[in-house]
Amino acid sequence: MEERKGFASNFGFLMSAIGSAVGLGNIWGFPFKMGISGGFTFLIIYLILAALCGFIVMVGELALGRKTGKGAVASYQVLSKKFKWVGWLGIVSAFLIMSFYCSLGGYCIKYVVLNFGNLFHAGFGSNGLDGNGIFGALMTNQTESVIYGLIFVVLTMIIVMGGIGGGIEKFCTIGMPALFFMLIVVIIRAVTLPGAVEGLKFMFVPGYALSAGIIEKAPNFLTVLSTAGGQMFFSLSLGMGAMITYGSYLDKKQNIQKNAIMIVCADTMIALMAGLAVLPASFALGGAGASMAGPKLLFVTLQNVFDNMGAVGPVFGIIFYLLVVLAAITSSISLLEVIVTHFVDGDKEKGKPDHRKKYSIIASILIAFLCALVCLDGLGSNGIWVPFQSIVGVRGFNDCWLDFFDMISEGVLMPLGALLMCLMIGWEIGPKTVESECNIEGNKLTCMGLYTVCVKFITPLLMLLILGGQIKSFFF
Ligand code: PHE
Repeated sequence: MEERKGFASNFGFLMSAIGSAVGLGNIWGFPFKMGISGGFTFLIIYLILAALCGFIVMVGELALGRKTGKGAVASYQVLSKKFKWVGWLGIVSAFLIMSFYCSLGGYCIKYVVLNFGNLFHAGFGSNGLDGNGIFGALMTNQTESVIYGLIFVVLTMIIVMGGIGGGIEKFCTIGMPALFFMLIVVIIRAVTLPGAVEGLKFMFVPGYALSAGIIEKAPNFLTVLSTAGGQMFFSLSLGMGAMITYGSYLDKKQNIQKNAIMIVCADTMIALMAGLAVLPASFALGGAGASMAGPKLLFVTLQNVFDNMGAVGPVFGIIFYLLVVLAAITSSISLLEVIVTHFVDGDKEKGKPDHRKKYSIIASILIAFLCALVCLDGLGSNGIWVPFQSIVGVRGFNDCWLDFFDMISEGVLMPLGALLMCLMIGWEIGPKTVESECNIEGNKLTCMGLYTVCVKFITPLLMLLILGGQIKSFFF
């Protein structure tokens, strides 16, 4: 049997895992959620959750992946009788997340092109439209949306076809430091704009969003907990097998605990940095009533910011949207890899040759259909969701396919996947299974006492609260 080739270096692994974690969730999810959910107080709750849930699940995923040397589905099948089906939830999540991730990634590519247009005063620039006009036009131009979405799918596919060491690791080793550098450039410009301090206050000062009239009433504790928890799972790429998959390619010599700490810290740090890059600028130049959340923050408010920046605006626009494309691609490759690893390993088991390229193409074609659906829908602008509304019957999806796919994956499947994994580790196979994988080659899981208490009791309990809060938010 051919050897299963993994990451060539720990740095390459770290860049890839941090690349998976750092994505759209950090850039448009975290800063706004922090602002409306209590600023600094939210940050403290997020950090506690990241330590008691995120870190625990991260160590679990990396260890189980490396122990079995297999992808998400096979890992659960090898390890457990009761939970052997859980890996499949990861495959479903990967497809669902890819559907909207690729369409949004495609929009980001469009905005890079648009800002090039503005730089050279070419016809494919803003053409006198403001952020709302540009985004509205893109949403209703179905052909253009689909083309950009498909370009993003193809880019993801090409990298994954190159394999772990030859594709993913190489791309992330260059891409992540580049992203970091571009982020610093944008932050320096953003926080030195006049009026930027309001954005910083929104992000950090507890109660500011309420007193400034950005939200009507203060969220209750359970809402804050489930907002922070849901954000954390999505942002750390947990609960759907991505870290199991990457862990399965990690060298036995490397220290799992240390890597897990670095991934969690880097992801949180970049989320905060993204806040510094986008919120001060949005408050300073975004215009009255600017939207600070979700797609509108990225595609309406920030484009207005670049248009209001004068001659250097397009340059910052190009740097910023390129940075977002990088963040999104280093995440989408990990999503596709969850699917591809599963099939490649399956073949290997049967003694068949490595068909990575074939599987990357087949999975990408399926993803392309889902992505096209989300693009055609244009965030609900084109009414494609409506026929399904009566079947699904829940209003929380904002009448659009993107929100539907997002709610099912980020809202339910990911916290559920992480909860089931903790129950498996805590109560079926035992925390010692994780410990024994962490304690090889002279490394050590130094926090084994805390790990055991968390994985058995604290993490599952917190995850039940998070899951309950998320599901409640669809209906009310
Ligand atoms: N962590 C990514 C983000 O913050 C999303 C993601 C989820 C990527 C699950 C891979 C797996 O945007």
